[in-house]
Amino acid sequence: MQPARPWGPSETPYLEIGGDEHVRALSDAFYDRIDSESPVLRAMLPRNTVKTREKFAMYLSGWMGGPPLYEMKWGHPRLKMRHMPFTIGAYEADEWMRCMRLAMNDIGIEADLRAFLETRFSELAQHMRNAETVTPDS
Ligand code: HEM
Repeated sequence: MQPARPWGPSETPYLEIGGDEHVRALSDAFYDRIDSESPVLRAMLPRNTVKTREKFAMYLSGWMGGPPLYEMKWGHPRLKMRHMPFTIGAYEADEWMRCMRLAMNDIGIEADLRAFLETRFSELAQHMRNAETVTPDS
């Protein structure tokens, strides 16, 4: 049976990661990895990602069981709809996950929390797919 808190001893993944500062660190590490690792994802983003990083951190806060900062400022995220302008196939979803795994490693997230987040992130990344691309060239 799944333990009651698969992410670790804290009440929420948000507390387990260490609160706001660490959520922001994850968002920054993720976009840093996109900058250095993934030209296909980088090409979808604005040149300056300060706002992108901020929005993602605010979203993650609520998504991890912390303060729902994104909803408080912008309302319901409607993520799938907001991703429609971008071509997201299997390749893009895999690239997103690859950068996220590297980012979680970069900031040294504990193994249980990392495994928990990886499963949840990957469900959402698959949900965000809206195209049949297989490689960046296809
Ligand atoms: C599956 C591959 C994904 C791709 C290629 C992708 C790509 C993007 C892009 C290009 C933007 C716009 C950034 C900007 O204009 O500043 C964006 C926004 C965003 N993405 Fe994703 N994304 C993916 C998956 C996800 C997942 C899994 C999550 C949640 C865990 C997520 C959360 C967000 C949020 C919160 C925003 C900001 C929405 C807003 O503008 O209010 N994305 N994404």
